Amino acid sequence: MDGVTDATTRAAITSIFEGRCGVSVCATEFVRVTGQPVVAKVLLRSCPELRHGGTTPSGVPVFVQLLGSDPAAMATTAHTAVALGAPGIDLNFGCPAKTVNAHDGGATLLKAPERITRVTAAVRSVVPPELPVSVKVRIGWDGPEALAAIADAAQRGGATWLTVHARTRTQLYRPPVHWAELARAREAVSIPVVANGDLVDEASVRACARKSGCSAFMIGRAALGAPDLFARLRGFVGAPLADDDLATLIARWLDGLEAQGRPADAVLRRLKQWLRLAVFSRPTFADRFDRVKRCASLPLARLALAESGVAHEPPRARIRVLCA
Ligand SMILES: Cc1cc2nc3c(=O)[nH]c(=O)nc-3n(C[C@H](O)[C@H](O)[C@H](O)COP(=O)(O)O)c2cc1C
Repeated sequence: MDGVTDATTRAAITSIFEGRCGVSVCATEFVRVTGQPVVAKVLLRSCPELRHGGTTPSGVPVFVQLLGSDPAAMATTAHTAVALGAPGIDLNFGCPAKTVNAHDGGATLLKAPERITRVTAAVRSVVPPELPVSVKVRIGWDGPEALAAIADAAQRGGATWLTVHARTRTQLYRPPVHWAELARAREAVSIPVVANGDLVDEASVRACARKSGCSAFMIGRAALGAPDLFARLRGFVGAPLADDDLATLIARWLDGLEAQGRPADAVLRRLKQWLRLAVFSRPTFADRFDRVKRCASLPLARLALAESGVAHEPPRARIRVLCA
């Protein structure tokens, strides 16, 4: 996820349960390809894992995610990524951001499925057949009617699998999520269709499987609040990760960001972002988020993160005590 799941975060999320995290594949944040192909230096910045075999430290493959509409530039960039060792390429035709769409990228291509075929085919033609090219879309621009054509377009372009976020572009991230509509894609193609959108726990994944008929899932935001969900779905672990254990994982991730020499205020912003997203799948983190979001410094925020339970002093009082 753009601005969220950089290499440090990918490493943290896939580090749980000592390599049995349950994640099959990660994708980088999207790399925008506008007109000119993207050079190796930029790809290595987005995907430093390319220097280490294209996997997270726990061994999960990291696909390089490309966003753009120019078939030639996308293909050249994919070729560079593969030459650097990318284990796969993920193509983003789902991004709803206004600036991205205004520059003819992301979900804009849902309005003309044949363009999805052209970009996918161009990329497929330069990626060795044994490496996957996955495609990500939404159910449509402003309705699901074209989803079968969109899925077929991805398949005709040679996509290895298709991930569908069960919302339209015009919905952005607003409810409801339309899991049942994913059946339109599944019935239109023979490649696997991966379901995405609002999968926050085992119950929601089961409900999505029932309504969509899908048996593969992509989890975005809930990876921050429930990084254990992947392993639980696979039956690797039973009990859910405790709040304090997630706080410990986040604290280790903060150590990693600080060790890279990132400025404290930038690290603090990232911490607040992680906690805001964590509440989506872990409502019990609302208190922690509330405390942390009022902290003006990273050391205070670290204390607020470590603090468990609901009985706590109001943050302002605590700040005064700490400064005394
Ligand atoms: C902050 C943020 C950044 C995102 N960045 C990307 C991205 O770079 N590429 C992508 O395909 N989807 C991106 N998404 C969409 C997610 O991958 C996913 O489709 C969406 O959040 C719904 O799934 P979820 O409910 O599991 O999060 C982003 C979502 C959020 C909230």
